[in-house]
Amino acid sequence: MKICLAILLFALCAQAHPTDLITNTDGRKTTSLDGQWQVIVDPYESGYYNYRYQPSDNGYFKNAKPKSKSDLIEYDFDKSATLKVPGDWNTQSDQLFFYEGTVWYKKSFDYQRKADARLFVYFGAANYFADVYLNGEKLGQHEGGFTPFNFEITKLVRDTGNFLVVKVDNKRRRDAVPTLMTDWWNYGGLTREVMLIETSSTFVNDYLVQLKPGSRDRVSGWVRLAGEKLSQRITVRIPEAGVVKSFATDGNGLAAIDFNADLKLWSPESPKLYDVTIEAETDRVRDQIGFRSIETRGTDILLNGRPVFLRGVCIHEEAPLRGGRAYSREDAVTLLGWAKELGANFVRLAHYPHNEFMIREADRMGILVWSEIPVYWTIEWENPATLENARNQLSEVIARDKNRAAVVIWSVANETPLSDARLSFLRNLITHARQLDPTRLLSAAMERHYLDNKTQMIDDPLGEFLDVLGCNEYVGWYDGLPEKADGLEWKSKYQKPLVMSEFGGDALFNHHGDSLTRWTEEYQENIYQHQISMLKRIPFLRGAAPWILMDFRSPRRPLPGIQDYWNRKGLVSDRGEKKKAFYIMQRWYRELKKSQH
Ligand code: GCU
Repeated sequence: MKICLAILLFALCAQAHPTDLITNTDGRKTTSLDGQWQVIVDPYESGYYNYRYQPSDNGYFKNAKPKSKSDLIEYDFDKSATLKVPGDWNTQSDQLFFYEGTVWYKKSFDYQRKADARLFVYFGAANYFADVYLNGEKLGQHEGGFTPFNFEITKLVRDTGNFLVVKVDNKRRRDAVPTLMTDWWNYGGLTREVMLIETSSTFVNDYLVQLKPGSRDRVSGWVRLAGEKLSQRITVRIPEAGVVKSFATDGNGLAAIDFNADLKLWSPESPKLYDVTIEAETDRVRDQIGFRSIETRGTDILLNGRPVFLRGVCIHEEAPLRGGRAYSREDAVTLLGWAKELGANFVRLAHYPHNEFMIREADRMGILVWSEIPVYWTIEWENPATLENARNQLSEVIARDKNRAAVVIWSVANETPLSDARLSFLRNLITHARQLDPTRLLSAAMERHYLDNKTQMIDDPLGEFLDVLGCNEYVGWYDGLPEKADGLEWKSKYQKPLVMSEFGGDALFNHHGDSLTRWTEEYQENIYQHQISMLKRIPFLRGAAPWILMDFRSPRRPLPGIQDYWNRKGLVSDRGEKKKAFYIMQRWYRELKKSQH
């Protein structure tokens, strides 16, 4: 009963923003707005503020045109340059490579809406702050560069001559999430797909269809309708499992679902996905869902009741082979393909929610996922707006990915300094995540310290509130030379599983030398050899995720001829070339895989 209540509670929490959770577009009429958009680069935000730095009513969102030869209009989208959406602006134009500021996007479109249909404009993500307008009217705004959002445009859309204008600003701010300093490129723009989604007047707005925690044959969750006709019968069908179950929604359009089912469980070895349809009297959505249970017992992580070792690798959302923010299914298939080649059954998607293609490909390919929000390094812990922003990003990623079997861990932070303010901030996020999703594990890349020069200690107070401990360490790169790992022991205050969430070092592909010459493949290989023997000695280690699968851009890495604004800790270069250390990890993972069967 407690779990049903928790799950219903989530549905009620999610009620907070009834229309902004079109989580699944399968089975819905969608119209892509991807392609070339006209843009105006506006470093002084003169399209938003007047010369007194007050928001102007006559900004670029009006897409104004001179009505007579004497009219004064100082911008014209239709004569302006274009940028491709989805895509970051930094890698589309050399002038914008380092640009941080505002860019205005405009897309014109015609749309014949079915009489009683509702229409939404959906953004996969916009980095970082988006102000959205349709036909000169403000639809709303969104903060956070890595989660989806949408606005209803039913009443504003017209058959022809619509213009959607988005002000995207990727300026970094101290109070933002992430804050000023990160070790990844601040790619700006409409970085993921934009589409129009048409629904019936009362539609299936959101649902959770997963195994009840701890069970392997009981499905529980909820379905929520939005619109006028909220009291309806809804039917959940899983044809392959012979499931046809009907439930009634209450006056708020909410139905709890709970039923037995004989299901083939999802796992990396057999990533079984079922076609699931949810039918209401006025709407129908389809999805592909895997069913698996994930829990911990002491220092073990149990997948479907059996201990599992997370053979992982970290990945940034950097596009393979071309660079820039990755966004497509092809990008996901390439990156996860390399992870599979490495022998991974797990990926840590750092340090922010990656695009939905990545998550759905992980579902299909059978790769377990650690999903993280960008509470990274030194956030403004005591700023309530910063906390609300972080909570909102957590709500949005959980809303989007809660039906994905692949996602097993929500991570609320990376390398955040110890303080009471930090602990209460992160505890708030952990409680929020558990309320939103009682079915998954919570973790974070925590702090650790030397007890003496031979012992690493994990006693970060945050550990008490997590299910899985995460730790980043760079023994052999930032901390001594590779062989330092040989004498190191790891201790933990907690009887919990540890995932070593980062380790490794930089090497430029094809740069060779002896095993103690930095930046060479041999030095990186040397690090990994010593790391693996150290990791094997940690009794409570249940996962490893080297930093990182592929080299990625970072403004903090200028070393000419070696880094050139790339972090070179990849096991694979940005052009997909495998470095020597790749094969060291691959060999260990093959051993582990064999030993686990
Ligand atoms: C840190 C951090 C990463 C960073 C890495 C590095 O631990 O979490 O974001 O890129 O170390 O220094 O390469």
